[in-house]
Amino acid sequence: AIPEPCVFVLFGASGDLAHRKLLPALFRLFERGLLPEGFTLVGASLAAMDREGFRTSVLQGLEQAVGEVDPIEWQAFARKLDYVTMDLSRGEDYTRLAERLAQVDRERNTRGNRLFYLSVAPSLFGTVVDHLGTAGLSRARGGSWARIIVEKPFGIDLDSARTLNTRLHRHFEEPSIFRMDHYLGKEMVQNLLVLRFANGLFEPLWSRRHIDHVQITHAETLGVESRGGYYEQSGAVRDMIQGHVFQVLSLLAMEPPENFSPEAVRSAKVEFLQRARAFTPERIRSECIRGQYGAGALGGVRVPGYREEPGVAPDSGVETYALLTMRFDSVRWAGVPFYVRSGKRLKERVTEVVVQFKPGHFRFPGMQGQEQLGANRLVIRIQPHEGLALRINTKIPGRGLGMREVDLSFLYAQAFEERLPEAYEPLLLEGLLGISTLYTRRDMVERSWELVMPVLEAWSATKAGPNYEAGSWGPEEARQLLGSQGRSWNRE
Ligand code: BG6
Repeated sequence: AIPEPCVFVLFGASGDLAHRKLLPALFRLFERGLLPEGFTLVGASLAAMDREGFRTSVLQGLEQAVGEVDPIEWQAFARKLDYVTMDLSRGEDYTRLAERLAQVDRERNTRGNRLFYLSVAPSLFGTVVDHLGTAGLSRARGGSWARIIVEKPFGIDLDSARTLNTRLHRHFEEPSIFRMDHYLGKEMVQNLLVLRFANGLFEPLWSRRHIDHVQITHAETLGVESRGGYYEQSGAVRDMIQGHVFQVLSLLAMEPPENFSPEAVRSAKVEFLQRARAFTPERIRSECIRGQYGAGALGGVRVPGYREEPGVAPDSGVETYALLTMRFDSVRWAGVPFYVRSGKRLKERVTEVVVQFKPGHFRFPGMQGQEQLGANRLVIRIQPHEGLALRINTKIPGRGLGMREVDLSFLYAQAFEERLPEAYEPLLLEGLLGISTLYTRRDMVERSWELVMPVLEAWSATKAGPNYEAGSWGPEEARQLLGSQGRSWNRE
């Protein structure tokens, strides 16, 4: 499907995200013939530039992001780019924007359809939305549509998320609001629906009857880079777990949706999170672990601790690592722990889900006392090297029944020739098509915040300092926590 003709208004067009991710993704869609006739991108930001200046800066960003750019494709794409300098806090500037958009409609036949993209500081979200409303830009008119895409963070706690949602709702209806969570655009995350529901093998096993526990690991080798200022107000729970990790978790473990429509899938996800057991002070103490990286080494290079990073307080208590044990009081999942962890400056960059099945019960010759068979593990690798591995026991060749664990595996890069699209490509395309399956609904955002609030409150009440070395697998307590339950991390 190709979207209807429209104008894409990119607020924050001179920013980093726009140049590194959004514009390259739009260019890729263009190359694949997926942008509609007349499509126009109007960049808007405070930077004083003219249209040519904007085009030049976009080309530079593209060359960095995708390498060499075909000059003919670029010429054609560049013609779709327009720019307005505006102060996003000034009402008059939106009147000018509205005039420009009307002019684009006349020249390019974009029919009054608009997609507004907020790639701006969160403190500006409300202001921009209100101004769009006042300038009459938020309401669809006679057959045309107006949608808005909002980048995270959606608030910094439950209250601020509700306030933001209320403000958005003053001017836009929920079906026109697209909350971006780039994890939902990742190929392997989208694949969760197919993996679970298109294979007769998995769904019958997908419950407490056969599954012992689940691990979700989001590990980065990067530290906070230049984002210390932002991260000081955030931390691993707000930055990663409340959003990206809960999205993966809910697609992995929700009940089958009634059908695959956006609303049915999104309802199944929220309903699943509704069943999550609340974090009590006792559970936070015994089942959740926070960490902060101290100095260490990665790939042989010394790196500073979090407290030494630019923009970070020398006595900061912010967590750069978090492990939450999630429990679900449902028939399907009662008694199955879901260990979710996310951390910066860990040993390897990897995001993966591990579904560990219960071990088989047969006793094989040579097994001692309480010894158990190796448990089967399904590893769903979200990045890098997207793919699957199912660990099974197999007989060692030769006499007897001695066994070893081996992997049945699938790698996208081997099975498919085409390049895996960057997360923003499918996301922007779906936004242009008006399909919201890959976007977060209001109730999901609020429920996610509600769940983590007790953890955030408990952790902010006491200060913690560095407790893991950069380049390690995180705090030792996290290893012990699983160990004390007779389990172990897939990576530690
Ligand atoms: C962002 C967080 O949303 O996701 C970053 O703000 C984090 O701190 C990033 O590094 C991780 O995304 P990915 O796609 O690299 O796993």
